Amino acid sequence: MPEPKTFHMTPDEFRRHGRAVVDWIADYYERIESFPVLSQVKPGEIRASLPPRPPDVGEPFDSVLADLENLILPGITHWQSPNFFAYFPANASGPAILGDLLSSGLGVQGMLWSTSPACTELETHVLDWLVEMLGLPQKFLSSTEGGGVIQDTASSAVLCALLAARERAIHSAPTQEKWNGKLVVYTSAQAHSSIEKAVKIAGMGSENLRLIEVDENFAMRPEALLRQIEADRQAGLTPCFACATVGTTSSNAMDPIREIGCICRENKIWLHVDAAMSGTAALCPEFRWIQDGVEFADSYCFNPHKWMFTNFDCSCFYVADRAALVRTLSILPEYLRNQATDSGAVIDYRDWHIPLGRRFRSLKLWFVIRHYGIEGLQFHIRRHVELTQQFAHWVKEDRRFELAAPAPLNLVCFRHKSGDEANQQIMDRLNRNGDLYLTHTKLNGKLTLRFCVGQTNTEARHVAQAWKRIQEEAESLQS
Ligand SMILES: Cc1ncc(COP(=O)(O)O)c(C=O)c1O
Repeated sequence: MPEPKTFHMTPDEFRRHGRAVVDWIADYYERIESFPVLSQVKPGEIRASLPPRPPDVGEPFDSVLADLENLILPGITHWQSPNFFAYFPANASGPAILGDLLSSGLGVQGMLWSTSPACTELETHVLDWLVEMLGLPQKFLSSTEGGGVIQDTASSAVLCALLAARERAIHSAPTQEKWNGKLVVYTSAQAHSSIEKAVKIAGMGSENLRLIEVDENFAMRPEALLRQIEADRQAGLTPCFACATVGTTSSNAMDPIREIGCICRENKIWLHVDAAMSGTAALCPEFRWIQDGVEFADSYCFNPHKWMFTNFDCSCFYVADRAALVRTLSILPEYLRNQATDSGAVIDYRDWHIPLGRRFRSLKLWFVIRHYGIEGLQFHIRRHVELTQQFAHWVKEDRRFELAAPAPLNLVCFRHKSGDEANQQIMDRLNRNGDLYLTHTKLNGKLTLRFCVGQTNTEARHVAQAWKRIQEEAESLQS
C-alpha cells in the first residue's frame, strides 16, 4: 500500500531546499550592490504581481524560491547594502542569521524557564556578558536585584519601564489618589517618538508628557528639566518617569545623563536611558563617555539589532530592580504553574515583557559575540566611526555644505547651504537613482540630510563614493 500523503517537507527535501536557501542568501550578499538600495516599486505593484487566490494544491519549493527572486526582491529596500546610510542601521551578519535559523529550527517558545531552560539561561548569561562588555553598572547583572531581558524593540522596553515606574509610584504613594491623571513623564524635545507612544499606550495622558527643551547641540537641558519638575510639583502633580537619550534619532545628541540622573534621584523619578543605536559604541572604552552617569539609571536599553550585527529583532533591556518590573507584569494562571516557578529559583521571562510567548533570540546574539569576539566587534564599530568622521571632514571642507549638528559617532547631519528645496532635491535624486540611500530630519526648522554609517559591509570605498555622488548632485543643482 502506498504511504498516505503527509503534505510535509521530508527531512531530505528540507536538507536540499535548506542548502538552496543558504546559497540564495550568500549569493544575495555577493550581488547586493547591484540592486537600487531603495526599492523603486510603486504602491500596489508587488501585490498586483501576486496571484489573487492562495494555491489549492501545494507548489514545488523551487518555484516559491523563484518567486522570491522575481516578485519579492524588486520590493525590497536593501537594508543590508553597504550603500545604506538611511535612518539608523538594522544590520545583520552571517553568525546572526545562522543563529536565527537555528532558533527557528529548534522552534522553542521560551515563556517559562521550564519550557526550555537553555532559552532562559543563555539569555541571562549573554545579557550579563553585555553588562561587562559595555561597561554598564553592576546593578544590571542578574546576580544582583536587577537583570536584563531581550525584548523585541526599544519601544516595548520603554513601555515596560514606564509601566514599572508607574507601578512603583503608585505603590509608594500613601493613597491611590496620586495616580489619577497626575503622574508626569519627562523626556527631551528630541527624544524618540516611542516615549510619546508609551505614554499613550499606558493611558497616562499626553498632557502629562513634558518635552524638555534642548541646548544648541540638541541635548536635554537639565536646568529646564528641574524647573519643569518644580512647576509640576507646585501644580500638585507627581513627577514619575524620565527618559534620557544616548544618541537621539534625529541628530545623535547625547543627553547629560549624570546631571539628569542626579535630578531624578533627588526627585524620586524613575530614569530610563534609551541608547537604542549608540549604546553599541560603548563596546569601545574610548566611547563610554556617552553613557557617563548611567549608574543613576533605573532602566537602560540598547538594540543589538541596530548596530551590533544582530539581525532584527533584539533589544536588550536592563532594570536595577527586577521586582518592580515583575510586580508590574506578572500574572500566574493555573495552566502556567510548574515546580520550577513555584520554587522561586528560576527566571520566567514572560514576567519581564508584554507578550507571553518568546523566541530564542539570545541564540543569535550568542553566535555574534562568539564569532566576532569583543575584538572583532570593537574593530567594526571603530571603523564605522572613523569612516563617519572622514565624511564629516569632507562636508566641512566643501563650502557649499555645512554640518547641522556635532557628529560624535556614526551619524553626520549636514545640509547644502542653498536651503530646503536644494537638500530635498539632492536626497530625492540620490534615492531615486538607487546608488545609495539616505534620509532626512528637521533641525532648527531646516531640512537636514542624515548620513549614518553602520552597515556590516560598508567600507571606505562606499563612503567615498557616496560623498562623490552627493557632490555630483550638488553640482547639478547649480547648473
Ligand atoms: C533613540 C531611539 N530610541 C528608540 C527607537 C525605537 O527603536 P525600536 O524600533 O527598537 O522600537 C529608535 C529607533 O530608531 C531610536 O533611534
